[in-house]
Amino acid sequence: MTQAEAAKQHVFYPWSKQADLHPLEVVRASGCTLELADGREMFDFSSQLICVNAGHGQKAILDGIRAQLEKLTYVAPSFATGPKLELSKAVARRTPGDLNKIFFTNGGADAIENAVKMARRLTGRRKVLTRYRSYHGGTYGALSLSGDPRHHASGHGIDGVVHVLDPYCYRCPFKLEYPGCGLHCAEHVLQVAAYEGPENIAAILMEPITGTNGVIIPPADYYKSIREFCDQHGILLIIDEVMTGFGRTGKWFAIEHFDVQPDLLVMAKGLTSAYAPLGAVAVRDHLADRLDELVLDNGLTYSGHALACAAGVATLKFYEEHGIIERTAALEPYWLAKLEAMRERHPCVGDARGRGLFGVLELVAERESRRELVPWNSKGDALAPQKKIAAKLVEAGLFTLLRWSFLFLAPPLIVTEQQLDTAFDKLDGVLDFADSLLPH
Ligand SMILES: Cc1ncc(COP(=O)(O)O)c(C=O)c1O
Repeated sequence: MTQAEAAKQHVFYPWSKQADLHPLEVVRASGCTLELADGREMFDFSSQLICVNAGHGQKAILDGIRAQLEKLTYVAPSFATGPKLELSKAVARRTPGDLNKIFFTNGGADAIENAVKMARRLTGRRKVLTRYRSYHGGTYGALSLSGDPRHHASGHGIDGVVHVLDPYCYRCPFKLEYPGCGLHCAEHVLQVAAYEGPENIAAILMEPITGTNGVIIPPADYYKSIREFCDQHGILLIIDEVMTGFGRTGKWFAIEHFDVQPDLLVMAKGLTSAYAPLGAVAVRDHLADRLDELVLDNGLTYSGHALACAAGVATLKFYEEHGIIERTAALEPYWLAKLEAMRERHPCVGDARGRGLFGVLELVAERESRRELVPWNSKGDALAPQKKIAAKLVEAGLFTLLRWSFLFLAPPLIVTEQQLDTAFDKLDGVLDFADSLLPH
C-alpha cells in the first residue's frame, strides 16, 4: 500500500466520494513537470487548478519568499508592511482603469464574499445576479453565489442570489446562433434584472470567461449592454478573475478582451501563482473614496499576510521580467491550432475553444446532435466514460482536469511549443481511446 493510500484515513480530499479515491503522491515539481513518489513524471496540463501560471519551483519566486521569511512573516492586518504596500501598488498598476485600492484575502472564495459585502454596503441593496454556469468558490456564501451544481450543497444559501442563463454559443440556451442572435444572452440578463427590480440589485457578478463550467467565452459585445445597464441603475459590476487573471487568457485580466470597466475585480490563484494562498479585491477610486467614509465591514486574520504578499510581489515581477503575458498572447494561435487539430482528428471532440493558454475540449457522444459524452451534472454510472478517460490520462503521464464532458487544458504559461507538441501527442492517444468509447 502506498503512503497516500495509507493516509486516506486521515485526509479528506475535495469534491469526491472519498471511498473511490486513489490519490497519487507528488514529491517535487519543476517547470511544467510533477514528480510522483513512485518516480513517474507527469506533465502539468492544467497548472494544477489553473493557478500555477509561472510554473513550478521558480527560483526567483522562492527567493522572494525566502527573503521575506527572514524579516517578517506575519503581523496583524491593521499594520502596514512592505510586501503589502508593494503588492497593492503592483496590482493597481496592472488592473484595468482606476481599480487602485486593494483588500487582501486568503483565496478566491473569501475574496468573492468580501467583494459582495462591499457591493451591498456601497449600494444598500441585497440582490446579486450571477450565471448558472459559474463557480465562485466553495465556502458557504461563494458557493451559493455560484450556479455550478455544487451550489446545491449550500441549501438556501445566502439571501438575494439570482441566477441567469449563459452566453454559451456551442449550446445556446436560447437555441440561437451568433452573430444573428442579437446577443439575446445579454438581453436575458437585463430582462431578469428588470423583473428583480434594478433598485434592489447590488451587483452583477460574472467570470469574464467562465472557468470550471466549461471555458465559455462570451461574444465580444456581451458585457457592453450589461455595463450600460449597471451604470443606468447604480448596480456594481463585479468581475471574478480568480481563474482568468494574470495572463491566463493572454492579457493581464480577461475582461480586457471585452473593453468594459469592472467596478470591483476579484483575483487569487495567479496572483501568487499558488506559491502562497492569497486573494484580493480591487476597487475603483470613487467607490474606495466612499468606503473611506464608511466603516469597512471586512476583516480576516491573514489579510495581507506578509509572506503571501511577498510571494505575490515576486510572482508579478516574474511575469513582467519574463514577458509572460505577452508570450502567452503570442502562443495563442499555436495553442488554438493544437486544440482545433484535436477536434478535427477525434469524433469525440465536439467543440474546441480557448483564449491565451486557456482551453477546453468538449467531449460528445455524437457530433451532429452535440449530445454530451458525460451529461452535465451526471453522477454514478453515467460517469464511467469520464473515469476511464481520466485513468488513461494518468497512464499517459498527463495531469489535467476532466469534469463531465469538459477536458480542460491550461498549462503553466512558461510552456514551450516543444513541450506542447509532446503533450498533445500523448493527448492524441488518450483521445483515440475516448473515440473508442463512442456508441457505434
Ligand atoms: C472563477 C473562480 N472564482 C472563485 C474561485 C474560488 O477560489 P478559491 O478556491 O481560491 O477559494 C475559483 C476556484 O476555482 C474560481 O475558479
